Amino acid sequence: MTTIRCVLVGCGMVADEYARTLRRSRTVDLVACADIDHGRAAAFADRHAIPEAVPLERLEADLVIVLTPPTHHLEIGSAVVRSGMPVYLEKPLALSSREAEALLTLADQHGVLVGAAPDTFLAPPAQAAADAITHGLIGQPVAATAALLSPGPERWHPAPEPIYALGPLLDMGPYYLSTLIYLLGPIAAVHGAAAACRPIRAKASGALFTATAPTHVDAVLQTTTGISITMTSSFDVQATMRPHLEIYGTDGTLILPDPNFHTGAVRLRRRDEDTWHTLPQPPPALDVIGRSMGVLDIAQALRTGHPTHATGDLALHVLHVAEAIRQAAATGARCAVRPASTLMSSR
Ligand SMILES: NC(=O)c1ccc[n+]([C@@H]2O[C@H](COP(=O)([O-])OP(=O)(O)OC[C@H]3O[C@@H](n4cnc5c(N)ncnc54)[C@H](O)[C@@H]3O)[C@@H](O)[C@H]2O)c1
Repeated sequence: MTTIRCVLVGCGMVADEYARTLRRSRTVDLVACADIDHGRAAAFADRHAIPEAVPLERLEADLVIVLTPPTHHLEIGSAVVRSGMPVYLEKPLALSSREAEALLTLADQHGVLVGAAPDTFLAPPAQAAADAITHGLIGQPVAATAALLSPGPERWHPAPEPIYALGPLLDMGPYYLSTLIYLLGPIAAVHGAAAACRPIRAKASGALFTATAPTHVDAVLQTTTGISITMTSSFDVQATMRPHLEIYGTDGTLILPDPNFHTGAVRLRRRDEDTWHTLPQPPPALDVIGRSMGVLDIAQALRTGHPTHATGDLALHVLHVAEAIRQAAATGARCAVRPASTLMSSR
């Protein structure tokens, strides 16, 4: 089968992870890279043995991977789909659902695929949880909890301002929301509460900056089938023992690892059992495990015509849910979420 030739745009922090994973894949070939800072693209090409660093106006490939900050996703993604090339973008898909819809509509008009991060639900832990639910190991799912609790990314990111413009709900929340939606189905309505507990924060360098989005968000989400999910996303928690994700069913409970990563144990305890069991995990459906599995998912679809899973439609639904949570927090009222596309992939 032919290899999918990819060009990567945005040679920053996460791009190194992509390049390392993609180099191990036989599905794709990283043939070029580009960055608004051409020197950075040239150094990236050298570092990862990519044949060339190209100007942004000369993107040409079977698939374009966009790893710039989300402020540029609409502009770059639109140019790519106008040229008739499929595109895969990092999370969040865009700064708002309105921008994401504009991109997906344009892609539809040009008949090209849009894929989007997060892709961690394609990895063995979430797939093991999906198998457990499908085979009835926890009975009927009735509720779940999600906890994204951290002291904030200024500990490790030298320029955290863009992350604080999104806040934990839009920056890291997509990992939790995508996994929950993949496992339990689309969200119909939400309640929310939000706060900005420490809006003035210090970087590792000591320089101060302002968090412009809420830094602590609590939400209650209801799926279209009536499953109730409580989710906290916070950059204001110094320490916690709360699990990242738990799913409760009529016959048992599943504990999942941090959905920001592609590895970790999934544990099950069924009714009447007094110990937790670690579930066996299925072999990956894609040829490598790690950040960029979503790229391989769309590349596989381009090769075979099979449906993709880390889709633009799923990423748009995640944005609709996050915006509904913010609106619910601002108004104090329950907010309905725009129905997910019928094209949104399900398990
Ligand atoms: N850093 C992480 O650990 C991480 C993890 C997962 C996902 N992400 C996501 O990946 C994306 C990028 O994050 P990052 O941390 O790698 O950012 P970064 O700031 O380290 O890198 C972004 C790169 O994009 C380039 N760029 C900016 N505007 C551009 C434009 N208009 N055209 C071409 N290149 C442009 C910059 O020069 C830079 O090299 C974001 O959407 C983020 O949410 C980041």
